[in-house]
Amino acid sequence: MNDAFDAYQLPEEHQELRAAVRALAEKEIAPHAAEVDEESRFPTEALKALTAAGFHAVFLPEKYGGDGADAIAGCIVIEEVARVCGSSSLIPGVNKLGSMPVLLSGSDELCQQVMPSIARGEAMISYALSERESGSDAVAMKTKARLDGDHWVLNGGKAWITNAGISKWYTVFAVTDPDKGANGVSAFVVHADDPGFEVGNKERKLGIKGSPTCEIYFTDCTVPADRIIGEPGTGFKTAMRTFDHTRPTIGAQAVGLAQGALDASVAYVKERKQFGKAIGEFQGVQFMLADMAMKVEAARQMTYVAAAKVERGEPDMTFFASAAKCYASDVAMEVTVDAVQLFGGAGYTRDFPVERMMRDAKITQIYEGTNQIQRMVMARALLRR
Ligand code: CAA
Repeated sequence: MNDAFDAYQLPEEHQELRAAVRALAEKEIAPHAAEVDEESRFPTEALKALTAAGFHAVFLPEKYGGDGADAIAGCIVIEEVARVCGSSSLIPGVNKLGSMPVLLSGSDELCQQVMPSIARGEAMISYALSERESGSDAVAMKTKARLDGDHWVLNGGKAWITNAGISKWYTVFAVTDPDKGANGVSAFVVHADDPGFEVGNKERKLGIKGSPTCEIYFTDCTVPADRIIGEPGTGFKTAMRTFDHTRPTIGAQAVGLAQGALDASVAYVKERKQFGKAIGEFQGVQFMLADMAMKVEAARQMTYVAAAKVERGEPDMTFFASAAKCYASDVAMEVTVDAVQLFGGAGYTRDFPVERMMRDAKITQIYEGTNQIQRMVMARALLRR
């Protein structure tokens, strides 16, 4: 035995981070999770607690006022928050999604304009790629931007924007050259106070009800010329490169939701008695629990490997980012459905958290690219080898 062997083991600092986030999540976020879902209200308690502890955007580089945490640390934060409240995990999650295009392709001046307000917790940032008629086929977007003197003028609308209305900043993708397909898309940072910007009604959703999802509209919306992210025509590649960094965070969210459901199930089967004994003593129930735990652990390991690969910029990171998101979200759905089954009739009620976790898990198979798109991305990577 060699207890100094450190392959396949998170460094101590990651383990300490997990303990810190778990303690905060259980004390400050979990008590409000059911109410946030029931009332479809933004989890202000979670925002306050995460910001006070500096967990709302750990990935931001130190030069912009952040902690410069690595990708695995970012996943751990999201996972631990999702374990108690899926809606709240979108605070660190979407901050990363909205920020990555700027960090990956924006100038230092643009990063200086936008990032410190996020680091200080004064502003959040959302990601605006999808449109009503352009979801999986993201290149088919219709929102347009044209340069007019020292301003870009945007017209169109984006759909399914997570945390819309709460965020102050929006990373927006728009067509600047309609003849060039993917290479005619550019990326911009829009501020909620920019003239011509508007937020639509909240979608009425199955889950993640505490995180508002809305359309956003641009009507001759003018943004200063220096708010373009990178060069014109590079926006689509920036959008895709962003997903390499953020699909593992959806994996982490899915792992957290599944772990929350598993933990609740283990506690419940020890208490619930039928046929004169705790249902956890029945082999059929034990087999279910074992399968759930096995899948959650496999999903967790795959998510961390993907995050590590992305952190190092390895050539196969796109495959791993999609694989982790796809696998972990399928696991989250299976495990949360099984959790509801283990709770029986009680699991079908809002008196227990597992039905919320099941509803919250569903979106992880859909957003940041459906799992069908992930399989397409993975297959393309395999066939390119
Ligand atoms: N890194 C760098 N460049 C990339 C890339 C990557 N990971 N992936 C693609 N590209 C490049 C390609 O190389 C190509 O460039 P060239 O023409 O120079 O070779 C260009 O981008 C276009 O790529 P494709 O030819 O692959 O484009 P496509 O139209 O065939 O397919 C797609 C692209 C993978 C289907 C893409 O549209 C996609 O990922 N769709 C899903 C969209 C999505 O995930 N939406 C989620 C919205 S955000 C959200 O849900 C967040 C939330 O609410 C929380």
